[in-house]
Amino acid sequence: MTTDAQYIRRCFDLALLGAGHVSPNPMVGAVLVHKGRIIGEGWHQRYGAAHAEVNCVRSVVPDDRPLIPYSTLYCSLEPCFHFGKTPPCVDLILEQKIPRVVVANEDPNPQVAGQSIVKMRTAGVEVVTGVLANEGQWLNRAFFTWLELQRPYIILKWAQTRDGFLGRRGERTPISGPAAQRLLHRWRSEADAIWVGTTTALTDNPRLDTRLVGGKNPLRVTFDRAGKIPAGFHLLDDSIATWIFGKYREGHFSKTSFFPAEDDAATLVPQVLEKLRAANHAIVLVEGGAQVLSQLLEQGYWDEIRVIESERALGDGIAAPKVPEVAQLREQFALGSDMIRVYARSYTLIRKDLSDDHD
Ligand SMILES: NC(=O)c1ccc[n+]([C@@H]2O[C@H](COP(=O)([O-])OP(=O)(O)OC[C@H]3O[C@@H](n4cnc5c(N)ncnc54)[C@H](OP(=O)(O)O)[C@@H]3O)[C@@H](O)[C@H]2O)c1
Repeated sequence: MTTDAQYIRRCFDLALLGAGHVSPNPMVGAVLVHKGRIIGEGWHQRYGAAHAEVNCVRSVVPDDRPLIPYSTLYCSLEPCFHFGKTPPCVDLILEQKIPRVVVANEDPNPQVAGQSIVKMRTAGVEVVTGVLANEGQWLNRAFFTWLELQRPYIILKWAQTRDGFLGRRGERTPISGPAAQRLLHRWRSEADAIWVGTTTALTDNPRLDTRLVGGKNPLRVTFDRAGKIPAGFHLLDDSIATWIFGKYREGHFSKTSFFPAEDDAATLVPQVLEKLRAANHAIVLVEGGAQVLSQLLEQGYWDEIRVIESERALGDGIAAPKVPEVAQLREQFALGSDMIRVYARSYTLIRKDLSDDHD
């Protein structure tokens, strides 16, 4: 691996520290290097807060400040060009007289879209782009999808037995082990919303929180067209922001919102996604059950699939959905007695879908 790639990889590690806190912004890391020594590091820590480049420059100790105009700045994403919640990072780079900038990915946001790269080059900065670009795309797949498709990035998740069942009908069936449970809570903490179907809400009475890992609790989303979810159930406890698509309930709710769901199931799915998009919820984790997962798969509303497969066999029960053939296996690892498999629709496939739409 080249030296540039090594520092970009460090940017990715830093960027990941922002997971769960920056959406719908991208996760970004930045490293400032002077003659083989890292003199500054930063990452985008929270939506609306300082960008990675700013935190990186701020982290340089006073003795090293004179070295900045002789250093290389590494950024996992093209620095911003526009006044958003913070001033443009490209101007900071020019003010600091940084002579060389290396980036993994250009920012597809129309307000940036290569303009910072042009501005820096015009000002005499040496700019290298595309270093570990594929890894950068994977890191920020949710952000890129959000921008391209103008809808949340959809992760379907389920746990299945080794003989392919989600559980026994009508009863809560524990499938994944404790380590996979913790991982699931981390996945939740990195999402903006978690979505389950009515039968799952009724059968499992899930809390849909992140209690095993701490951190923020995403929005909970469920259907309840017939008003079947009992008042004492966790999803109606008003402890976490919750959207219920279905019957309105009287009560003292401050975090729970009810939306009408009179339309048929097929049209409701895009409505839920549009509401999530409008509220800036860019990453949604769909936790079942089989009906909701199948609808999203059939309607093409998925970007990633995470399957937890246990050693258990049930012999009978609710069949797990089939992973579509176009899904590519991206990661696979054992966790306790479970196997975790992460599949994704490749970015190129998403682009193809888009161009098909416009043809
Ligand atoms: N192993 C796992 O990972 C896992 C995960 C989740 C659940 N589960 C298990 O799976 C079972 C539940 O799965 P399931 O397939 O029976 O049910 P489900 O997908 O949880 O819920 C289906 C119900 O949700 C409502 N619904 C679904 N799509 C809708 C739409 N587009 N618009 C409005 N309402 C909609 C409908 O309820 P109404 O007809 O009442 O309106 C429908 O009957 C449970 O036993 C649970 O334990 C397993």
